[in-house]
Amino acid sequence: EAAEKEGYAHFMMKEINEQPRGVYETLHRRLDKEDNIVLDGIKITKEDLDKINKVYIVACGTAYHAGLVGKYAIEKFAKIPVDVEVASEFRYRDPFVDENTLFIAVSQSGETLDTLAALREAKRKGARILSVVNVVGSSVARESDDVFYTWAGPEIAVASTKAYTTQLISMYLLSLHMAMTKGTLTEEQYKAYIKELKEMPDKIQAILDDHETIQQLADEQFNNENVFYIGRGLDVTVAYEGSLKLKEISYIHSEAIAAGELKHGTIALIEEGRLVVALATQDKLYDKMLSNIQEVRARGAYVIGVAKKGNKEIEKSADKVIYIPDTLDELTPILSVIPLQILAYYIAVARGCDVDKPKNLAKSVTVE
Ligand code: G6P
Repeated sequence: EAAEKEGYAHFMMKEINEQPRGVYETLHRRLDKEDNIVLDGIKITKEDLDKINKVYIVACGTAYHAGLVGKYAIEKFAKIPVDVEVASEFRYRDPFVDENTLFIAVSQSGETLDTLAALREAKRKGARILSVVNVVGSSVARESDDVFYTWAGPEIAVASTKAYTTQLISMYLLSLHMAMTKGTLTEEQYKAYIKELKEMPDKIQAILDDHETIQQLADEQFNNENVFYIGRGLDVTVAYEGSLKLKEISYIHSEAIAAGELKHGTIALIEEGRLVVALATQDKLYDKMLSNIQEVRARGAYVIGVAKKGNKEIEKSADKVIYIPDTLDELTPILSVIPLQILAYYIAVARGCDVDKPKNLAKSVTVE
């Protein structure tokens, strides 16, 4: 096992570091020489796509969080309404699904029972089934009409990291592909997104190279028993994922919430010394986030801000700031999740937790 970890103390850290590679593979295997997206496993034609008036993205855990970004991307780029739902809820209600519905299952293992059951239910109702899966030939992949494989490579640690970032790339590629097929994005907009996506492996690497700054923060904050993650827009989806990472492996109670909802309840829990991780990567929402940071700070919270390089104003409101490389607002989750993975990892290590095999959790949940 030591050899398999290639010098890393845990699989999780090894996999965090494999993200530039996974993202590179997932992206470049789908781009031809002219940067057009070529999706071999997907046979949806323009005619099929014109019929689709609704998309459901259904998944569990981290894959569900990737689905939330998928909703944002498909609605913004391809202009089709999208609902995202956890599989255990979707399968037991009577969702509005018919032959004009595209059902997208997202799953690292392709064996999660709830996701598979939801897929079968959607298929029974006539939906077209597309899956975003990491494990080749898995049940979810076999039962789908169209398959998009993430190229993360085997993921061993229970807490998902590289599967998530490659799922994000898949979501962006799928939505850009749909948009270009439907004609809802201009060539120029498309090129700008692709250019930026191609820079992601290097930008992720830059964050990884600076992991010691985050380790220091973890060493200062690992004793906190309540941690809050806040954000707006796409940042909320990453807040959910950051919070899940932390609770999964460090057993610290943690909650993620849309920053605008703080005042409707959660702010009652903010008191002296509480740790708040505040994502503020969205230009349009930056000022709003700064006010939210001030609100929690005024009540004694210790705030770690996450912002794009250059947006220095946040230093006046937050206690510490982690900067991510600059990128387009629509693509920030690929970068902003990285420091949150590293933070969760080092906090868990500082607390002496079994990072790769957290108690009560399984890598793949094949029972109800
Ligand atoms: C388990 C794992 C998570 C994962 C979830 C969904 O809870 O511990 O890391 O996100 O299942 O798994 P899937 O294989 O369907 O992505």
